[in-house]
Amino acid sequence: MSHTVLVTGGAGYIGSHVAVELIEAGYEVVVADNMSNCDMTCFEGVKKVTGRSDIPFYKIDCCDAESVARIFKEYRIDALIHFAAFKAVGESVAEPLKYFRNNLDSFMTVLGAAAGNGGCNVLFSSSATVYGEADSLPVTENSPRKPATSPYGATKQMCEDILEHTVKAGIGIKGTALRYFNPVGAHPSALLGELPRGVPNNLIPYVTQTAIGKRECLSIFGDDYPTPDGTCLRDYIDVTDLAKAHVAAVGRMIGGKMKRDYEIFNIGTGTPVSVLEIVRTFEQANGVKLNYRMAPRRPGDVTAIWADPSLANRELGWKAERRLSDTLESAWAWERHLAGKDD
Ligand code: UD1
Repeated sequence: MSHTVLVTGGAGYIGSHVAVELIEAGYEVVVADNMSNCDMTCFEGVKKVTGRSDIPFYKIDCCDAESVARIFKEYRIDALIHFAAFKAVGESVAEPLKYFRNNLDSFMTVLGAAAGNGGCNVLFSSSATVYGEADSLPVTENSPRKPATSPYGATKQMCEDILEHTVKAGIGIKGTALRYFNPVGAHPSALLGELPRGVPNNLIPYVTQTAIGKRECLSIFGDDYPTPDGTCLRDYIDVTDLAKAHVAAVGRMIGGKMKRDYEIFNIGTGTPVSVLEIVRTFEQANGVKLNYRMAPRRPGDVTAIWADPSLANRELGWKAERRLSDTLESAWAWERHLAGKDD
């Protein structure tokens, strides 16, 4: 019998890619999403890519305990992957209470429902943001977490702690936190990808929107960092590779292979890439010229961060596989797909 995974936030950017990979690996998937930051585009893409038009979808808010409990009554949930959260760093600084209220409450609500049903395997989508400006690179899972520089980052740290303490309470919850580095790209089918609302904050959507003419010029935030070309270094992880790490982590939890009841894994490539390298690779891979200019540093940016992913490589049997140029091709194909639809 196949196992059932509840994916909260499953209509969003990362959640939809994870739903595809879970279904392709033989899992049954139930999606819950309040659609506060997406439309049905990616969920429709999931159905098309997998050929499954019958994926259960609940338009609910994960802060609503009754609605969440109903899903646990209707399905035997073997694992829960929690993505349902606000994610705009700048907005979180302006509206901290909105972030703390939503991101903490939704996670505690789904954890409560899981515990109320005799337990569950829980995977939390954490972030490399918990490491802040790291003292030494690459970061391992044992590198210290630094004080959060934004309420968004604080909620990631707090949700990790909430999961760890809930696991310790011995109420049937096992937990995994995956710390993502910079998730980028789109599904190779170009049927699902990132759909930022308004002006993108993140680099890759800004690059693709500039290339297609929606934005005039990409600003490179800072060229005077102590890095080889002066621009910041990040670990850009392909979203499909990232999604596959979730399948591996869920399989490890359900299969009883965990070494501890609460585990943390870095999910990255292990390779630092500069902003200028992103621009050049994007131009080369897609045969387009990008209009860009150097701009002042963006407040809050760290100089460099990249993963030591060896624990995930070893324990999850997972490794990032897609080449950066392929990932940037997929991001461009997705942007063109969106433009085609807009015409
Ligand atoms: C940000 C968040 C991180 C979150 C991640 C989601 C912060 C401090 N961190 O990471 O918590 O998990 O997004 O993907 O906000 N850049 C430009 N021009 C642009 C946009 C970005 O030069 O128009 C540069 C940035 O300075 C940075 C790099 O591109 O060096 C990546 O930026 P971005 O995609 O926003 O991700 P992070 O800031 O690394």
